[in-house]
Amino acid sequence: MPDVIAGLLRTSYTGHTLLYTQSTGSTNDDAKELSASYPEGTVFIAEIQSSGKGRIGRDWSSPPGGVFMSVLLRPAILPSRVPALSLVAGYSVAKAIRDGLGLDAQVKWPNDVLVDGRKICGILCEMRAELDRVADVVVGIGVNANLAVDALPPCVRETGTSLRELLGRTVDRNSLIADILNHLESAYGEFLVSGLTTLGPRITELCAFLGRPVVMRNLTARDQGETHGTLQGIDSQGRVLLSTPGGNVKSFSAGDLSLRPAP
Ligand code: BTN
Repeated sequence: MPDVIAGLLRTSYTGHTLLYTQSTGSTNDDAKELSASYPEGTVFIAEIQSSGKGRIGRDWSSPPGGVFMSVLLRPAILPSRVPALSLVAGYSVAKAIRDGLGLDAQVKWPNDVLVDGRKICGILCEMRAELDRVADVVVGIGVNANLAVDALPPCVRETGTSLRELLGRTVDRNSLIADILNHLESAYGEFLVSGLTTLGPRITELCAFLGRPVVMRNLTARDQGETHGTLQGIDSQGRVLLSTPGGNVKSFSAGDLSLRPAP
């Protein structure tokens, strides 16, 4: 598998060091543990994870057939700009799925990829930093590639699906991984040079729920408040923009976004 992926890469450094294992706890944890010994762009891949991690302390179910990988990055940017990397990664996965598999993949702010409104990929970015300097960022990408949907926990099954289920056939995970890494290196390079100036509008074009009524749940406020609005896109900082019923546009840098059910 690593040799096949290597043969499909068009990158100048991403995936050139590729650590592949049958089973691990979490590829994100592996990348963080081994970061000091490996160069930027090193990729950690596992066939299964026994303690796959999702966002907000959730578990990430990681049965055989999925793609579980983490990319080690060392961006020379301020820590405050790092959250946009989730979008850069989501965009890269969406592009790989659209171009390689012909599915209408969309980026769900801030870190999911959906097809037909159902989640097929989650991204967990973990950063180590001083206040004004990033040490490393691990971009963890989990794609429901060749999973049987009934292998997923019931709560995940409600909102998620797999590429195999959508296409009615298994997908070539080596090509998918290489395509994601090819897109990621190019989008990451563009982001380092010009932030989201040129990339942002292309990400917005692929945004799920664009122009639709949504609810933003605040994950940090004590009151767990929520805001209703219409999704306008993302701004140059990677914040999501909602036009609210009062006519204002509000931006959010964190939160849980979902479609507002019809009344
Ligand atoms: C989410 O949607 O909550 C994010 C899921 C991220 C899962 C990936 S799988 C590879 C990497 N290793 C982990 O433990 N998590 C990420």
